[in-house]
Amino acid sequence: MAAIRVAFNSLNLLAPTSSSCACHSVLTKLQFRPIWGVSLTFAPLSSRTSNRMAHSIARATLGLTQANKIDAQKISFTAKEIDLVQWKGDILAVGVTEKDMVKDENSKFKNSILQKLDLQLGGLLSEASSEEDFTGKSGQSTVLRFPGIGSKRVGLIGLGSTSSPTLTYRSLGEAVAAVAKSARASNVAIALASSEGISAESKLSTASAIATGTVLGTFDDTRFKSESKQSALKSVDIIGLGSGPQIEKKLKYAADVCSGIIFGKQLVNAPANVLTPGVLAAEASRIASEHSDVLSAKILDVEQCKELKMGSYLAVAEASANPAHFIHLCYKPSNGEIKKKIALVGKGLTFDSGGYNIKTGAGCSIELMKFDMGGSAAVLGAAKALGQIKPSGVEVHFIVAACENMISGTGMRPGDVVTASNGKTIEVNNTDAEGRLTLADALVYACNQGVEKIVDLATLTGACVVALGPSIAGVFTPSDDLAKEVIGASEISGEKLWRMPMEDSYWDSMKSGVADMVNTGGRQGGAITAALFLKQFVDEKVQWMHIDMAGPVWNDKKKNATGFGISTLVEWVLKNSS
Ligand code: BES
Ligand code: MN
Ligand code: ZN
Repeated sequence: MAAIRVAFNSLNLLAPTSSSCACHSVLTKLQFRPIWGVSLTFAPLSSRTSNRMAHSIARATLGLTQANKIDAQKISFTAKEIDLVQWKGDILAVGVTEKDMVKDENSKFKNSILQKLDLQLGGLLSEASSEEDFTGKSGQSTVLRFPGIGSKRVGLIGLGSTSSPTLTYRSLGEAVAAVAKSARASNVAIALASSEGISAESKLSTASAIATGTVLGTFDDTRFKSESKQSALKSVDIIGLGSGPQIEKKLKYAADVCSGIIFGKQLVNAPANVLTPGVLAAEASRIASEHSDVLSAKILDVEQCKELKMGSYLAVAEASANPAHFIHLCYKPSNGEIKKKIALVGKGLTFDSGGYNIKTGAGCSIELMKFDMGGSAAVLGAAKALGQIKPSGVEVHFIVAACENMISGTGMRPGDVVTASNGKTIEVNNTDAEGRLTLADALVYACNQGVEKIVDLATLTGACVVALGPSIAGVFTPSDDLAKEVIGASEISGEKLWRMPMEDSYWDSMKSGVADMVNTGGRQGGAITAALFLKQFVDEKVQWMHIDMAGPVWNDKKKNATGFGISTLVEWVLKNSS
């Protein structure tokens, strides 16, 4: 029997303990520690950084808000091949389709696993499911108490019909996490009523999707609540999807990606009075120092950005009391030849007021504009995951021109002309189109790293949300090859991307009377003209893609960050490894 123990918590995924280092061991143990307890109170960071950094960290306590320390939360996953009725613990959860729930003329299950379970429970499972009208539809779940057998409770969780297996099994994990939380369960087992027919490869991705859903479903960002109840979930047995080193490796990979996603969510959820550009840079440095065998960090201050002539980026940052920090992390495998160099660039506006073109009126969502660093959270979340996964043959640059778009007498005015680091001049006809001004210098910097491919992610336009709604990101690229690669990665990760056109004729609306271009071209095709603007700052020989994630960065219903982009970026980087 193979066992994988993956322990997670809100943020810091510590190095595996000795048990996982021994290759023969069937145990992989990872521990997570809360991020903020370390990051915001960290004496080491503030003591060794400049006054400027100390200043921005001091401001991070504006309103006396300090993120709570969260107790370490660990979930260990074990992939097992055992008989369900033998399992002992708090909840045995079985994922069922509508087909699995079909009963014969005697109201008994036709499915052999349910039949066996029902027999053990004296027919109560079939009886209860009929009474409750549980048919196995997606979103349905029923949990019954069964004193006297190994498992205290048995739950049936509806899978519905499976259009996207990744999303279906992730929802199963999330449903189990919810059931475990309300029952205060610490041990659960998850199985599928029909797992025999699944191919070996699909079993791996199914187990990984279930584990991902369980981890993300258990995570609750309570750092800014004065009181909270944490889930008691400690161990999850995944039964019937195989056991052994292959599935262990897959579960370890899922846990690494989850830790990146959780980190990304925490960055986006953190309010702008806590997460300033300086704190974002400090968090990035911390990620690099925790994986210093493969990651290094370089943070440029305003003076250094001036030397690089980043006039477009610095103009956006000018009005803020929280100074800009340009973040550059670099992933290099510790050995082996590097065959590909790529870059991930993220928009990092820790707050976007709009500037003089201030966001006003219903629906402008100014109070949500802390999420305007969602692109940078995706990039840094991917860096954290990759620091643990350590792919070979690929060098990855993580680049964020972090700043805040505010208003002041010394800040950027509508109509100002700014000069980017590639020498191009921009007439700022709208200070609220600031993301592209910061990305312009970030893209020039990325091209100067000698990379062959760049993917940028940004909460760039409301127009993209109008076009594709809240759950689909728009992708823009002149390269069919890169489109295939990244969209392929998103199909594995289950994130929704839709390719949009780069219509060159729309560039007409971006002409300026006095400068090389303006920064906005009016309402029509706003997501497309934004992409055409970014293209002005990318070398033609570099394959480049822009992802507008203004919709999917935030879940309005849950009032929480989604962690969008991280799993796709990690998949894409692995496609480029060798
Ligand atoms: N950060 C916003 C884009 C945004 C808007 C993201 C709503 C999520 C929800 C961006 O900086 C912005 O303000 N864009 C403007 C561009 C316009 C002035 C051309 C917009 O979309 O309105
Ligand atoms: Mn804006
Ligand atoms: Zn913005």
